[in-house]
Amino acid sequence: MSDQVLIKGARLYGEGDPVDVLVSDGVIARIGPGETPEDAVELEARGQVLLPGFVDLHTHLREPGREDTETIASGSAAAALGGYTAVFAMANTDPVADNSVVVDHVWRRGREVGLVDVHPVGAVTVGLKGEKLAELGTMAKSAANVRVFSDDGVCVADPLLMRRALEYSTALDVVIAQHAEEPRLTVGAQAHEGEQSARLGYPGWPASAEESIVARDCLLALHAKARLHICHVSTAGTTDVLRWAKDRGTKVSAEVTPHHLLLTDERLTTYDPINKVNPPLRTRDDTERLRQALADGVIDCVATDHAPHAVQDKDCEWSAARPGMLGLQTALSIVVETMVRTGLLDWRGVARVMSERPAEIGGLSDHGRPLLEGEPANLTLVDPDAEWTVRGRELASIAANTPYEGMRLPGVVSATLLRGRITSREGKIE
Ligand code: DOR
Ligand code: ZN
Repeated sequence: MSDQVLIKGARLYGEGDPVDVLVSDGVIARIGPGETPEDAVELEARGQVLLPGFVDLHTHLREPGREDTETIASGSAAAALGGYTAVFAMANTDPVADNSVVVDHVWRRGREVGLVDVHPVGAVTVGLKGEKLAELGTMAKSAANVRVFSDDGVCVADPLLMRRALEYSTALDVVIAQHAEEPRLTVGAQAHEGEQSARLGYPGWPASAEESIVARDCLLALHAKARLHICHVSTAGTTDVLRWAKDRGTKVSAEVTPHHLLLTDERLTTYDPINKVNPPLRTRDDTERLRQALADGVIDCVATDHAPHAVQDKDCEWSAARPGMLGLQTALSIVVETMVRTGLLDWRGVARVMSERPAEIGGLSDHGRPLLEGEPANLTLVDPDAEWTVRGRELASIAANTPYEGMRLPGVVSATLLRGRITSREGKIE
């Protein structure tokens, strides 16, 4: 197979006139007119938007342990179809990715599959138990070269342990990603604490459970001169805390999920656990403030929190259901719906929040790069005008728990290239 691809007539960042982009030997070889090598594969872009490949800082791939819901292979396919060229695989697998054996396995398996760069996230504490620090240094120095550590799914609640992790992280030049949820404030919690939870009779999940940990950890990071990343910001109050912390020079970054940008707790009237997620869906005011914070840069990036779950873990009574929803194949469309169509972000902005900032935060030097000659050809081609209808069964994930079932969404990923190789095209894996 040819290792050259000619992308014909693409608009870089959705700007200016369409240009041809020649990809050769894994890099962008030429932008603009020139000779077409005979054996180059042609991709007709017809004025579509060319962006740097998306990077997801927050994906649950479920391997090892729950291969009945997702594997590194199926999740990589979903990522490539969603326009991603790199994903960070969360550590809450079984066994937990709290040692170099597990992280190296995930890393190697990702390479074998070859559809997307799979970067394992290492656990902060042994077994995600929040009692003892895991061997961060060993994981950072392993073949997987772990750059991001998180106990995601649970919060590193002990302030002393969190402080130690942050201090240790500075020496390793890695980032601690916190799932901000004060567990003492969410015992038995089922839904955002507010009018809706009161009406439905669900135990409430207060905004302060998130905001108090974000405030605490920003202060810990500031004093330790450490980098901190806040996972799935879900409340307006958290954006206020982040703005304050950033103004004071805290090295804090933050992500928001597509579902927290679009969906609200108004959906909970159906009692359908498809809408159950951690942190919970919040109010209309929260979604609006999250969108604004993403546009302003107070929230740095979009991360999916792609969380596949088996039918028996979602199609059951609300309180017994697992939290989480699929996200990799719908993320771009939700960003188009909430941020582009509303005028809050242009395509340069989409490149920033879906590719450049997450690559920087995750320490990737070959993703989120500018669209320039000589740069690695990790690319996503998007048809901004096309629409599609979401069908959970048709997604590449093994699980099908999408909250967008039957919805018509704008923005279609028409091709993804990883180091110059087409990984997905027209909705199919290559
Ligand atoms: O909804 C969620 N699901 N939130 C998390 O923090 C963990 C995730 C999972 O692993 O299913
Ligand atoms: Zn989480």
